Amino acid sequence: MKKIDYTPPEISKKAQEFITRDKKIMFGAHTRTRSIPLVVDYAKGARVIDVNGKTFLDFGAGFAVVGTGHCHPDVMKAVTDQVKKLIHISGSDFYYEPQIELAEKLIEITPGKFDKRVYFGSSGAEAVETTLKVSRYFTRRPRMISFIGAFHGRTFAGMTMSGSKKLQRAHFSSLIPEVYHIPFPYCYNCIFNETYPHCLRKEFEGIPLPYCLSYLTDVIFERLIDPEDVSLILVEPIQGEGGYIIPPKEFLPALRKIADKYGIILAFDEIQCGMGRTGKWFACDHVNIAPDIMLIAKAIASGFPMSATVGKAELMDPEVDSRAWRPGAHGSTFGGNPVIAAAGIASLKIIEKELMKNAAEVGDFLKKGMIEIMNRHRIIGEVRGLGLMIGIELVQDKKTKEHFPSAVTINRENIKEVITGECFKRGLILYGAGFNSLRISPPLMITKDDAAEALKIIEEVITKVEGQLL
Ligand SMILES: Cc1ncc(COP(=O)(O)O)c(C=O)c1O
Repeated sequence: MKKIDYTPPEISKKAQEFITRDKKIMFGAHTRTRSIPLVVDYAKGARVIDVNGKTFLDFGAGFAVVGTGHCHPDVMKAVTDQVKKLIHISGSDFYYEPQIELAEKLIEITPGKFDKRVYFGSSGAEAVETTLKVSRYFTRRPRMISFIGAFHGRTFAGMTMSGSKKLQRAHFSSLIPEVYHIPFPYCYNCIFNETYPHCLRKEFEGIPLPYCLSYLTDVIFERLIDPEDVSLILVEPIQGEGGYIIPPKEFLPALRKIADKYGIILAFDEIQCGMGRTGKWFACDHVNIAPDIMLIAKAIASGFPMSATVGKAELMDPEVDSRAWRPGAHGSTFGGNPVIAAAGIASLKIIEKELMKNAAEVGDFLKKGMIEIMNRHRIIGEVRGLGLMIGIELVQDKKTKEHFPSAVTINRENIKEVITGECFKRGLILYGAGFNSLRISPPLMITKDDAAEALKIIEEVITKVEGQLL
């Protein structure tokens, strides 16, 4: 392949001063998105303003966090009102209304008409830790199932359950033992060379079983482990970091059946795909399947650090089932902080009132526009998405589906860096995902005009890059 001629975005003198200071003192394992050398001054709605006063349209939302947009006035008000009353006392030990009110609302909006209990933490990875602890404690079973391509965070539990990039796990062994990773339905590039819906020719307990899941039922559960030794199946209903990959509609129902048959806890990590991003509260709502445990973080409090693990009452409360963990078995100092809980309550109100609908409408418009761009160009192999969670698969040629090599420029930048860097130069913040995809994850309050502006920039960049490959 011909090398692409690409110059990374220029860095102003003022921005460089911050970057140099940062480099001297911050730890070296940050990803530091090379193609987006953004030094932020402030942000409002879907616009981010850098230290030179240049405005960017934000189609990343701080990694799908600021669902309500940057600095939403209702969130700011809720937080400032709460700051004047109580900043911290520790929700693990004491009681206060914002924590209770937010938990009540989460129980109402999470799928499943059963009693639930909520645990608040401070990061997505903490919800993953919590889920593993709940499942192991309750079932006393050591084994767990996760998926290739999954991303669940950077702690030992998060790393162990992730199957996204080897870099994230390298040299940290031993990880938590007895975790088995199975293929996720990445239908564009099925590792079994199957095609959907032909791949549904098997059944499990009377419902269609995507072929890739028969690797679990017929291989893992027949040859390697007894399903009755498995405590947990953890899955993202839409894979996020893995490339915004949407499984076929039969996938979650089949997982539910498998989990129920063997008494395995089924947990949905909706840390990235939840909180209204897909046009419904949760991605699993599109197929009406409820998990035993729901993991929530990112957009729950519009950028304030919080996660929630919402599980069936019997799993999490020993007064409901004596197999559940006892008081003191889990907790955290900051979980359910009153100021952050106030931000959460305000965020949920805004999402419910207007943003889910907007995500569905503007998401449809954006996806249609992206599909039209795909149809005009040969380096976009697939556009997939629900609401404002849209993935774009980049290929050298859509007929062959061959991906780009890992380096496409003389300076060894990859194709995602080239495209996101060119977008950044034109005022659009857009991130890559997985090895070969771009992800569109703007704040849920963007307008059709914002979407049209982004589409124009994306097409301009795709045209430029593609032109060099001819
Ligand atoms: C699906 C998913 N789970 C877990 C995490 C980890 O969350 P955190 O970075 O807040 O620990 C992420 C973060 O990107 C995620 O996308």
